[in-house]
Amino acid sequence: MMVVRDSPSTGNLTTNQGEHSDTMKPKVLIGITGGIAAYKTADIASQLIKANVDVRVIMTEAATRFVTPLTFAALTRQKVLTTTFPDTNTGEMDVIYPHLYPATEADAFVVAPATANAIAKLAHGLGDDIVSCSALSLKPDCKRIFCPAMNEQMWGQPIIRENAKKLLSMGWHQMGPEKGQLACGTAGYGRMSSPCAIVQIILSSIF
Ligand SMILES: Cc1cc2nc3c(=O)[nH]c(=O)nc-3n(C[C@H](O)[C@H](O)[C@H](O)COP(=O)(O)O)c2cc1C
Repeated sequence: MMVVRDSPSTGNLTTNQGEHSDTMKPKVLIGITGGIAAYKTADIASQLIKANVDVRVIMTEAATRFVTPLTFAALTRQKVLTTTFPDTNTGEMDVIYPHLYPATEADAFVVAPATANAIAKLAHGLGDDIVSCSALSLKPDCKRIFCPAMNEQMWGQPIIRENAKKLLSMGWHQMGPEKGQLACGTAGYGRMSSPCAIVQIILSSIF
């Protein structure tokens, strides 16, 4: 049986998943959208790798303004996808069909941080970037988690709350936002949940 616990020395999650071969590893697809909290997602990816999870990362163009795909490629040792349009020079599936692979194989899909824009797209089935388009290709039983992060005044907008509610009604799990100091200099609800808390939810959803 899978054991997940906090490591007292590091605060990170440790697991007994070491016995899983690469092909048996649960697959988590992380979608990063363009918020300042995107830097925290590196910690999420790193903790999942340590928990013996197969992690793939996809990023919107806006997300690449905040953190580089190279960071996530280095952590996951896998290609990071940032566009729905292929480099046609190769026959690899995730190059020709980036909106299908790795999305169709994911056991869990986590959007962290989830911008107001991304939440709106996910709630309405838009697919004009790699993150929203991949969401349209997930397996029916893939666990879907979104982690809103934005200024408190943004999070208070009825349209944004309505879009989040719509995702919840369609079976998505919402993680956060939390109350605290925000990057824009204000305080209130809008902080992305801590990487540890997000990892905990992901692991409990896939094991
Ligand atoms: C410095 C800066 C910080 C931003 N932080 C956030 C944020 O935390 N949450 C959010 O919803 N939008 C934020 N935005 C706005 C988004 O980047 C913008 O809506 C973008 O189009 C989102 O694109 P995406 O959803 O495709 O990633 C920020 C913009 C800038 C310039």
